[in-house]
Formats: sequence, C-alpha cells, structure tokens
Amino acid sequence: MLPLLFSAFFTPSLAVTCTSQTQPNPIAQDYPNDATGVINGTTAIVPIPYAVARSIVPAQYSILTSAYRTIFPSLPPDLYPAVLEALHDHDVRAFNFSIPDFSRSALRFPFVDRLNDGHTSFKYGSPILISKENAIAVNGSAVYGTTYPATFVPECDAYAADACGGTFMNASVFLSTRNDSKPDIGSVFQTTGAIPYTLKAFMNITNQPIFGDAPSSLCDNYITLFNTSITAPPYAPVPVKGTVSVRPPVCPKESVFEEVYGFRMANAFVERNAVPCESLGGYHGTGEGDSG
Ligand SMILES: *[C@@H]1O[C@H](CO)[C@@H](O)[C@H](O)[C@H]1NC(C)=O
Ligand SMILES: *[C@@H]1O[C@H](CO)[C@@H](O)[C@H](O)[C@H]1NC(C)=O
Ligand SMILES: *[C@@H]1O[C@H](CO)[C@@H](O)[C@H](O)[C@H]1NC(C)=O
Ligand SMILES: *[C@@H]1O[C@H](CO)[C@@H](O)[C@H](O)[C@H]1NC(C)=O
Ligand SMILES: *[C@@H]1O[C@H](CO)[C@@H](O)[C@H](O)[C@H]1NC(C)=O
Ligand SMILES: *[C@@H]1O[C@H](CO)[C@@H](O)[C@H](O)[C@H]1NC(C)=O
Ligand SMILES: *[C@@H]1O[C@H](CO)[C@@H](O)[C@H](O)[C@H]1NC(C)=O
Repeated sequence: MLPLLFSAFFTPSLAVTCTSQTQPNPIAQDYPNDATGVINGTTAIVPIPYAVARSIVPAQYSILTSAYRTIFPSLPPDLYPAVLEALHDHDVRAFNFSIPDFSRSALRFPFVDRLNDGHTSFKYGSPILISKENAIAVNGSAVYGTTYPATFVPECDAYAADACGGTFMNASVFLSTRNDSKPDIGSVFQTTGAIPYTLKAFMNITNQPIFGDAPSSLCDNYITLFNTSITAPPYAPVPVKGTVSVRPPVCPKESVFEEVYGFRMANAFVERNAVPCESLGGYHGTGEGDSG
C-alpha cells in the first residue's frame, strides 16, 4: 500500500487526527529496512460462484482450483473463496518514517496463477477502497491498480459495535457525482462459536503476493504475521459470521452475501513493495501457512 518513494512525498501536514484503539507496531525494530505495521479488522471468505470469479480475474491467468479446494475443503464445488479484507492500517513505518493510519476495504481473489507456472498462488486485488484523507496510501496502492479514495465508518478504527452486538466497517467511494450514504462495501459480523475454515487457511491467503489491474509486472509481497503479541491472547483471532454487501464500482452488480465466515483479528505485517512478480515464482509463504 506504500508508494515506491513515499518518504520523498511525506510531510507531517498530511496527518489526520485519528485516534485509533489499535496496539502499536510490535515489529518495527526487527525490520528496520522494510515497511511494517499493524492491520486490525476482519478478513472473511465470501463464497461466490466460480463463474463470477472467472469473469473478474483477468482472463489471461488461470485460477488454481485444486489449491483452493485443498485449503477450503468445505466449500461446495461450484463456489470459489473470494476474500473480504476490511482493515485498519495502524502505526505503519518504513525506513524510519511513519505514515498516518488509514482504512481499506476490498474483495480480493486468491489462488490466481499470475505467472502461469501452474502452482504459485497470487491474489488479484483490484479495486480497493482506501481512506481518502491518506494520499500516501492511495497513491501507493494505485501503483498496483484501481484505487478509490473512500470514506469509512468508523473513520479511525478497525470496526465499531452495532446495536445488535456485532461489529461493522463500511466504506463508500468518494464520487462527487453521487450523493447517497449507502456503502459500496458494507460488512457486519457477529462473533460465532466455530467457522468452517481453519486459521491456517487464512495464513495461506493472507500471504499470497498481490497484483492488480495496473499494466505492471510489479507485485506487492505482503507478509502477514500470525506469531506476534497482537495475534495472541488477549488479542487472539475471533471467529465471526456475517453479511457483506458490495455494489458498483466495486463489483459489476449489486450483491449481498450471507454465510460469510472469517476472523476478526490484528496482525503485524512486513510489506515488500514493487517486487517483480516473476521473482516470486515458487513462493511458498512465510512459515506457518506453508504446506508446500
Ligand atoms: C483492534 O481494534 C478494535 C476496535 O478498535 C480494538 O478493540 C482492539 O483492541 C484492536 N486490537 C488490537 C490488537 O489492537
Ligand atoms: C533507521 O534508524 C536506525 C537507528 O537510527 C539506523 O540504524 C538504520 O540504519 C536506519 N535505517 C534506514 C533505512 O535509514
Ligand atoms: C498523489 O498523486 C497525485 C496524482 O498523481 C499527486 O497530485 C499528489 O501530489 C500525490 N500525493 C502524495 C502525497 O503523494
Ligand atoms: C447531498 O445530500 C445532502 C443531504 O440530503 C444535501 O444536504 C446535499 O446538498 C447534497 N449534496 C449534493 C452535492 O447533492
Ligand atoms: C453498514 O452497511 C450495512 C450493509 O452492508 C448496513 O446494513 C448498515 O446499516 C451500515 N451501517 C452503517 C452504520 O452505516
Ligand atoms: C498455500 O497453499 C498452497 C496449496 O497447499 C501451497 O502450495 C502454497 O505454498 C501456500 N501458500 C502460502 C503463502 O502459504
Ligand atoms: C514469525 O513468523 C515469520 C514468518 O513466518 C518468521 O519469519 C519469523 O521468524 C517468526 N518470528 C518468530 C519470533 O517466531
């Protein structure tokens, strides 16, 4: 989510007055030469017909169906695991600079054979909605593909409580030609006892390198950690069940998905931006999510 040379653009006046309740970056000292931060929010599987996924993922890349069937064995055969990422990026640092917090929301498409090598899974990530106040994050994301500056509710947090005991994060694309308050990506989740997917499956999809619809051969090698203090008690991942709504320009057709299961959690991340996608052939993740 960071531009190549973001430090050159950085000025403190860009900071927005956001008071987030998210814990500080626990790994900045360990990775002084990388971009690191905390993502807090909800990551969930949105089961969609395979044909719909196929119509969204660029036609020149195949989808690694046997890989996702192995990792999500409970999905019916005609459904594909799209991923909702409704997240708040907090205490992001790189090369000894900090950038202001921001939120982002997207439906993403894992298990894409970006290199046509038959086995390395990438995640197709366009379009994405990012807090319109944070030009650094918006510009950085645009390197990979379509990025809509958006308004978020809640504005400065990973999620907020609703009246029914659940949590939500809603994002609306900022378009001057439009004036309604409906979210373009809305998501409401309730805590639930168990979900049909493993945490390990989430380790896998959150560690696939990301590419988008930009005419570029650069990928975002985004490493999501599950082994730091902010992903352990008292902050252990919480299984959730919810409803996700999307509408254009996020997806071709207005849709509401129920039976969406995932985790409300916080993770530290290490982000290696603008890596040539070709260099990630055979990439097997970073550890615990690694079955290859
Ligand atoms: C994530 O955000 C929620 C909502 O603000 C907060 O209650 C929780 O403590 C945060 N988790 C971490 C690990 O920072
Ligand atoms: C960041 O700061 C530390 C401590 O001052 C220094 O050792 C390190 O070289 C700096 N890293 C970069 C990329 O400037
Ligand atoms: C973001 O990109 C726009 C358009 O290219 C540019 O005008 C603006 O200065 C950039 N802002 C930052 C903070 O990089
Ligand atoms: C948008 O709607 C609000 C409330 O209905 C109204 O006050 C405002 O003038 C409208 N803005 C535009 C650009 O139509
Ligand atoms: C968030 O979006 C959902 C639709 O997904 C809607 O039901 C809910 O009312 C919205 N909440 C707020 C506070 O806008
Ligand atoms: C995800 O799982 C697939 C299939 O088992 C495996 O080949 C791949 O290395 C895993 N990727 C990550 C990032 O863990
Ligand atoms: C945490 O996981 C990352 C990625 O799998 C690994 O590189 C790192 O060494 C692990 N750290 C600890 C303290 O186990």
